[in-house]
Amino acid sequence: MKNNTVIKVEGLKKSYGSNKAVDDVSFEVSHGEIFGMVGPNGAGKTTTIECIEGLRKFDEGSIDVLGYDPQKEGSKLKPVIGIQLQQSQLQEHIRVWEALDLYSSIYPKSTDWNIILEQLGLTEKRNEYFSKLSGGQKQRLFIALSLVNDPEIVFLDELTTGLDPQARRAMWNLVRSMKDKGKTVYLTTHFMEEAEKLCDRVAIIDHGKIIAIDTPSELIRKYSHNERIEFTLVDDNIDVDLGGIEGLTSFDRTDNRIIIYGNSADLTQKVVNHLTEKKIAFSDFRSEKSTLEDVFLKLTGREMRD
Ligand SMILES: Nc1ncnc2c1ncn2[C@@H]1O[C@H](COP(=O)(O)OP(=O)(O)O)[C@@H](O)[C@H]1O
Ligand SMILES: [Mg+2]
Repeated sequence: MKNNTVIKVEGLKKSYGSNKAVDDVSFEVSHGEIFGMVGPNGAGKTTTIECIEGLRKFDEGSIDVLGYDPQKEGSKLKPVIGIQLQQSQLQEHIRVWEALDLYSSIYPKSTDWNIILEQLGLTEKRNEYFSKLSGGQKQRLFIALSLVNDPEIVFLDELTTGLDPQARRAMWNLVRSMKDKGKTVYLTTHFMEEAEKLCDRVAIIDHGKIIAIDTPSELIRKYSHNERIEFTLVDDNIDVDLGGIEGLTSFDRTDNRIIIYGNSADLTQKVVNHLTEKKIAFSDFRSEKSTLEDVFLKLTGREMRD
C-alpha cells in the first residue's frame, strides 16, 4: 500500500445466488481525495461500498481500510469512518438534536455537532421532528450524523438521489468542504454529471466490473472525443476540406450539415478560423465538450441517463 492509501480493495467478489453483483473489483483510494464510484442502477455500487464499510460480507478478495480488515475489525473501523444512513433508519418523531445526541453517544470520540449543524445550515431546525424536514434537510441531517465522530473517511451512497437541482448543488459544496477539511470522501452515484463535477477520481462500474478508473478529464481524453462541433453551410454546393486541422478525428457531412469530432482544446477556434479564412459562410454553429456520459456510451455502447 502506498503510504497515502486509505482504502485498498483487491479482487473483491460478491454473488447473490448466481448473480455476480461484484465481480473481481480492485482499486485504491488516497487520503484526501473525493473518490466516486459511478454506474447504472444494479451495477454493484452499494454492494461494494457496504463491503468496504464492513456492513456486508463478501465471497472473495481482500479489503483494507485505514489498516483494518472491515470484516474482522469492524469494531475498530466504525469509530474512524462516517457512514451516511439510509432514510428509513430514523424514527419520524425524533428531533434533529436528539438524533445527533444519540449518534454522538455511540462513539468514543465525537465532535461538537452544533458546529456541524451550523455548517450544514440546519441550526434553525435543531428542534424539528425528523418527519417535518424536507428531502434536502433530511439528506443534510444524515450527512451531519455521519460526521459526528469526526471520521477520517466519509462514505456517501447516492447522496443526491431524490434531491432537486438546487439541493444537489448545496450537497456538492458540502462534499467539497469535507475535502477542504482533509477528509477522504468515498461516494457513489448514478449521475455521471455529478461524478464529473465533484470527484477527483472516478471508477465507472457496470455489471459488477470496473470498466475504467481515472480522473474525469483523463477518462474523457482517453475514451472519448473532447469536442463535438456542428454547423450548417449556407451555400449547398461549397466544398469543405478540414483535413489540415490538427486534432480533428472525425468529419461527417450530410447535405450541408457538418459534424466534426476532435480532441484538441482549441478545435472550435481552429475550425472557425479556417471557415473565415476560406470565406465559407456557416450558420447554426454549435460546439460541445464531451462528458463522462459520452465515456460510458463509448465503453458500453449504452446510454446511462436516468
Ligand atoms: N441483498 C441482496 N440480495 C440479492 N441480490 C442483491 C442484494 N443486493 C443487491 N443485489 C443485486 O446485486 C446487484 C448489484 O446491486 P447493488 O450493489 O445494489 O447495485 P447499485 O448500488 O449499483 O445499484 C443487482 O443485480 C442487485 O439486484
Ligand atoms: Mg445502490
